[in-house]
Amino acid sequence: MNGNLTLTILKPDAVANGHTGKIIDHILQAGFRIKAMKLIQLDERTAGMFYDIHRERSFFKELVGFMISGPVVPMILEKENAVADFRELIGATDPAKAAPGTIRNLYARSIEANTVHGSDSDENALREAHFFFSDLETL
Ligand code: CMP
Repeated sequence: MNGNLTLTILKPDAVANGHTGKIIDHILQAGFRIKAMKLIQLDERTAGMFYDIHRERSFFKELVGFMISGPVVPMILEKENAVADFRELIGATDPAKAAPGTIRNLYARSIEANTVHGSDSDENALREAHFFFSDLETL
């Protein structure tokens, strides 16, 4: 059975460009409910831990540098089939390949500054939700 939670991060480009309101509205209009949300400044260690799976990739250093370049907005989102539906809503990782009308197609500029993160599996959604919202008693 598919889970009903996913974790997104509105990345520094979304916050710096004043797109957070429009993106949150887009997410709500698509039927997601916001279960938790906060605005935070990541530090290098925390961003590195979040993206630990990419530590050996050529883009890791740039990715972490970008993610700490300004505030971000992590959110836990709730909806049936949340992981797959949210990935469809945001479009491909590379905005140049993102389908028309998707969030990355509308707001992202590059594969690095791609405006939003979306969990890629139910297992990672839970891990990532706990990563940012360890104070929540139940998910
Ligand atoms: P995200 O969904 O947050 O998960 C990993 C991130 O790594 C991804 O979004 C991109 O922003 C980033 N990424 C993936 N591939 C590249 C790349 N080739 N160059 C720079 N950043 C990348």
